[in-house]
Amino acid sequence: MNRSALLTHIEDELPDYNLLCLERVDSTNSEARRRAAQGGNWIITSDAQSDGRGRLGRAFDSTPGGIYLSFTYRPDFPPENSLHLTTLAALAVHDAVYEICGVRPEIKWPNDLLLGGQKFCGILTEAIHTAPDYFLITGIGINASNELPEELDGVTSLRRFTGSAPDSERLAAGVLRRAIDLYSRSQTEKSALLERYAALCVTIGKTVSVSSGTSVFTGTSIGIDENAALLVRRESGDVATVFSGEATLSLLT
Ligand code: BTN
Repeated sequence: MNRSALLTHIEDELPDYNLLCLERVDSTNSEARRRAAQGGNWIITSDAQSDGRGRLGRAFDSTPGGIYLSFTYRPDFPPENSLHLTTLAALAVHDAVYEICGVRPEIKWPNDLLLGGQKFCGILTEAIHTAPDYFLITGIGINASNELPEELDGVTSLRRFTGSAPDSERLAAGVLRRAIDLYSRSQTEKSALLERYAALCVTIGKTVSVSSGTSVFTGTSIGIDENAALLVRRESGDVATVFSGEATLSLLT
């Protein structure tokens, strides 16, 4: 990622951020954590990652041509008031991809974005507690123009889906500006943002299989609650609240 091109697209909108554009790093989330532990807010991008991380301890394939970025956020509200920040990052990616690439992604709860039913973006948010404060790291991986490993099913890239390679700096800047703006509005506009997320979320209304620890169950997802947790009605009629940090989910219909 070209730092000056990225800065041009950010247009002075993120003055409080330190921006580091790397060619290769273990993980932009890990680098953001190391930097932010010393102070300040950071945006880290990398052209490739040697140890890209996904949710629930999974690896995230991170070859050149993709967009791998992380940014930190220091909320001035307690963690329990925090709207699930992955939700806001998903909205930011949705809006930036629609504006810049002209295609409208779907959101698969909680952290995947799909085109034509196939994943092209994943999001990983981590909270770092540095008593008495804490900071958050949101990492976003977008299959932009990277080659996709043949063994990975159900994935696509923006280039494959649209037929042309996106402008990475413009797209990355569009995502960052929107995500950080949404974070700053998340306390005052929480219900409107949740409603918007729910409207774009393909998971809602579908039959899903939820796997959490050793338990697996099937049900119909009927909505999200005020913390962006998924509400799933089991066959028994009970409604389970599914938190993103614990569960994996398959769409069955
Ligand atoms: C997932 O699909 O489970 C989440 C994937 C998140 C990948 C991004 S790429 C940039 C940042 N650095 C990482 O190591 N992970 C996130």
